[in-house]
Amino acid sequence: MMRVFFRFVLGVSLVSFLLMGVPAIAQAQPDPAQLAKAVEEIENLDAMRSGLAAYLEDAPEPPTAETMKQVCKPVGMKAMQLSQENGWQVKQMANKYRNPAHAPDNLHARMALAKFEQDPDLTGFWEPETLDGVTGTRYYRRINVEASCLACHGAKNNRPQFVKNNYPQDLAYDFNVGDLRGMYAVFIPDVKQAIEEALTAS
Ligand code: HEC
Repeated sequence: MMRVFFRFVLGVSLVSFLLMGVPAIAQAQPDPAQLAKAVEEIENLDAMRSGLAAYLEDAPEPPTAETMKQVCKPVGMKAMQLSQENGWQVKQMANKYRNPAHAPDNLHARMALAKFEQDPDLTGFWEPETLDGVTGTRYYRRINVEASCLACHGAKNNRPQFVKNNYPQDLAYDFNVGDLRGMYAVFIPDVKQAIEEALTAS
């Protein structure tokens, strides 16, 4: 008898918990699990770039054109993979960009870059965002210049030949250690809207 009662109480609290959760989602609260995962994946991605750049800097042989390409291009590829696997949109953005695809894509992104520029202690933050009519949350994380980045993002004349050849409109040079290089921007669509769309589609 006690057991049945216990189950009942558990059931009721579960249902009321779920009901409480629905308006929270309606107010476009970020899904904490998704947000936590995005934060973690971006830390890994950033560490991957730092690791590749440091490896190139410390390599015993001088870097070849091929090894040179193995620093920031793979970061872009991994960002694409994360987008596909999680249903997010993972981007890198910078005011001084090398690849024009990495220009800030709206006013909020430009404001986020300005915020990082103004506050060097700000590592990351998130805010509600609507992209192409889809509501969700955008997580921003700063990218700083390290010594190992200067081989390709330092003085204009010292850039590797492949950069000069492949990026004629390059703006991503003349940085110093500690400068803001740019940011990652991860758009996480709202779960509720995704579910509703799936239901109306079926
Ligand atoms: C071996 C050369 C090389 C090194 C070293 C290097 N980068 Fe890059 N970086 C590039 C190239 C090339 C691109 C453009 C990649 C593309 O087309 O997506 C780029 C692009 C970027 C971007 C994307 C925004 C943009 O300008 O297109 C960021 C952010 C970035 N680099 C940060 C860094 C940081 C931080 C470091 C050091 C930890 C670093 N890079 C080291 C070559 C390099």
